[in-house]
This record gives sequence, C-alpha cells and structure tokens, in this order.
Amino acid sequence: MLSARALKDRRSFLRFLAASPIMAAAGFTSNWADDLMAAPFAPQDAAALGAQNEVVIRSVKEALNVFDFDAVARTKLSTAHYTFITDGSFNNETMRANREGFSKYQVRLRRLTGITKVDQSIRLFGVTWESPIFLSPIGRMNAYYPNGAVVVSRAAKATNSLHVLSGSSAIRENPKVIEDVNEARGMPVWFAGLGDTLNEPMIKHLESLGCPVLVWTVDDGGANTIGAKSIQRAGVKDLDREADARCAGCHNNLPKISRTTVTTPMDVMGSVGSLMGENSVKLSWEDVKRVRGLTRMKLVLKGIVTREDAALAVQHGVDGIIVSNHGGHEDASARGTIECLPEVVAGAAGKIPVLIDSGFRGGADIYKALALGATAVGIGRPHIWGLSAFGQEGVETVIGLLRRELQVMMAQAGAASIAKIRRDSLVTRG
Ligand SMILES: Cc1cc2nc3c(=O)[nH]c(=O)nc-3n(C[C@H](O)[C@H](O)[C@H](O)COP(=O)(O)O)c2cc1C
Repeated sequence: MLSARALKDRRSFLRFLAASPIMAAAGFTSNWADDLMAAPFAPQDAAALGAQNEVVIRSVKEALNVFDFDAVARTKLSTAHYTFITDGSFNNETMRANREGFSKYQVRLRRLTGITKVDQSIRLFGVTWESPIFLSPIGRMNAYYPNGAVVVSRAAKATNSLHVLSGSSAIRENPKVIEDVNEARGMPVWFAGLGDTLNEPMIKHLESLGCPVLVWTVDDGGANTIGAKSIQRAGVKDLDREADARCAGCHNNLPKISRTTVTTPMDVMGSVGSLMGENSVKLSWEDVKRVRGLTRMKLVLKGIVTREDAALAVQHGVDGIIVSNHGGHEDASARGTIECLPEVVAGAAGKIPVLIDSGFRGGADIYKALALGATAVGIGRPHIWGLSAFGQEGVETVIGLLRRELQVMMAQAGAASIAKIRRDSLVTRG
C-alpha cells in the first residue's frame, strides 16, 4: 500500500515526465499522467484507502483498531472484491462525508468520575443486547469468506451481538442461508430485504422461520457504480465479468439481475445508477403500506436520512428506523449519516427507536451517535474486514475492540450506562 506521501511523490514524478518533450515526441498527450493517476490509484481512492494502517498484522492478537483488519483484508481478497467492499459509489463523496461528519461533534470529557465499570447493554424490541454495536447486513458474503454469513452469525452468538442478515445473500447465493444462520446464531436473526424483493411469499417464509424483525432497505440503487468500478479496477475487459475466466466460475451461477445490454459505457451494469432492476429508487410509501399490511413482524426501514421521512415512517406504522446511506455505497448526496441523525431523531419524535450506521470506525464515533439519540450503531465494512482477514475470530475481535473503545469513551464522558449518555456531552465545532 502506498502512503499518502508516496502517492504524492508518484504524482509529481508522473507530472514531471508528462511535461517532458521526450514524451510528446513519443506520441503521449499532455493528459496521460492524469489519465494514469485516475486509473488504479485515483486520488479520491487514495484518501479512502489511506485510512488503512501500513502494518499488516498476522494475528488478531496484534490488532490495535479496525483499520488493521482492512489492511489484512486487502491482502486476502481479489482486487474486485476488495474494491467492492471498501470503496464507495460515484466519487466517494458520501463515504468521505460519513467520516468527516464525526469531526463536527466533539465530546466534553469529565474528569475524576470514579467510574470503574461501564454497562453498555441496550434493550430493543424487548430483547437485551450486550452492547449497542450491531452487525449491519452485507450482501454476497461468500465473496469475502467461505460460508461468510454463517461464520458472522457464529461471531454474533459468541459476543451476544445483534446480527442483521442481508437478504441479498439469501436470495443470490443460497436460499437455505436463513435457516443455516438462525441455527448458527441459536435464534432467528433480523432479516434485511432489499428494494422490491419483499413480496408476500418471501414475507410468509420469513415468518415461518420465526424472523422477529424485517428490515427493509430502501436506499439502494447506486451500487452498480461501485460494481462497475470494482471490475474495471481488476482489469476485466469491457466490464464483462461473466466473460472473464477469473469471475465466471462464480458469477455465471448468479442471477443476472444487475446487467443491462451493453451498448454504451454507461449501460454497463447500470454503472451510473439505475431505475431498472431490483432496487428501491422506484418504491413509494404505498409500498410501505402494502408490506406493513402483510406482516406482524416488526418493520424497520433502513436508509432514512431526513426528518420528513422519519415522520412518514411513524405515520405508516413502521416500528424502527436505521439512519443509513449504505456506507456511501449507493448515493452521491455528500451527507454523512451522523449529520442526518439529529433531524431523523426529531422526526421520529421518540415514538420509535432510531438506529444508525455508515462510517463508524471507533468508540468515539459510536459515542457521538448515542449522545445524539441513536439506540444502536451498526458496523458494515469493519466486520467484513475482520471476516476476510481472520474469519470468526476476526469478527469477534473487531466487535471486542469497538466495545473496549466505547467503554473508555463512556467512562471518560462520565456515563456508566447508555442511559447516562447525555446530549449535552457533545458540542458542535463552531
Ligand atoms: C459491500 C457492501 C454490501 C452491502 N450489502 C448490503 C445489503 O445486502 N443489504 C443492506 O441492507 N445493506 C447492505 N450494505 C450496507 C450496510 O448494511 C451498511 O449500511 C454499511 O456497510 C454501513 O457502513 P460502513 O460499511 O461504513 O460501516 C452493504 C454495504 C457494503 C459496503
């Protein structure tokens, strides 16, 4: 991995070469250095990937923070899969905003609080969880680790964590995955359906398996950009992964829902985002009414980012909200979820719980969301980095590290329990 400084030096060197008359004589245009830099090590990606640690740890015992697992995942996954999980859609604006948003809030620490023990437990829909940190749903889990969803569920059981299973794993890879995951977890897990996949047979199937909470992800529709970018970076010709020997073995067995007929570059996999196929862009509140009427499972909308939509969710009988932008995987709003949280909490008006994810990488981030009124905080990439790096042990260690960081933050802020975390322990950067 190149450090930010090495990247800068590389850029300067390439620009120096680009200006050289020798290169012009050889037929290179004056833009070639920029073109080259825009390819595998594009500057916007350098900022995102630059968050990684340079040390590649060899065991979970060496881990100091979640970025250690990112660095290992990079060495274990194919370029395409690593890019798909780690990078963001469009130009990474939203992914960057997720991280930058945290710096707008600062924590007012108290001293001499005498706290020797911190209780992180929360209650959600009548169930007690050991900590507010939950595992966000991630699709296509077998791309990161064999039987990935089941392995994550084992880690969730070992740490008594809330695990939300992605419907995309269930539908695309193994229709039996819900049963397998429930068995590994020792209890039925929350299930996250995407877009318009939540039809009556699916809902009845989930009910028959005892699913307590149906999460409906309503923010997808832009991930095709990152899909196209991932395979472009892996050098897949014409972005046609089914024709590429490295990808075909697995991808040819999957339903071809994300491909459109290729006539222009923008058609490739709907690479500018798409109103076609199974995604949420075309859904409406009428659909929420329909799904609400189909089930008595708790219904949670994932992807709500405004006050108005939070209020509409309450009006439509929704039981909970997850403030999320898919970790910057789906939109170019350039709004971090931590910045959206206060207005969503206001819109929900204390009537339903508000959870959040996207960009959470440390205990201080999690603390800030709890202080702003979130009930629980999800992690997406960090637990997949852990999984890709070291399997179940990796996921457990990621959860353990974040819990420790949150514990310290709570003690330093004078909160011995989640209920004691106060809104006025945060100040906003002026
Ligand atoms: C590679 C990838 C796949 C994802 N798949 C799903 C999915 O199938 N269903 C879903 O609701 N959210 C999905 N998400 C979004 C996550 O649930 C979560 O919102 C996001 O990862 C949180 O941001 P973070 O990765 O910065 O922690 C996915 C995110 C990533 C990065």
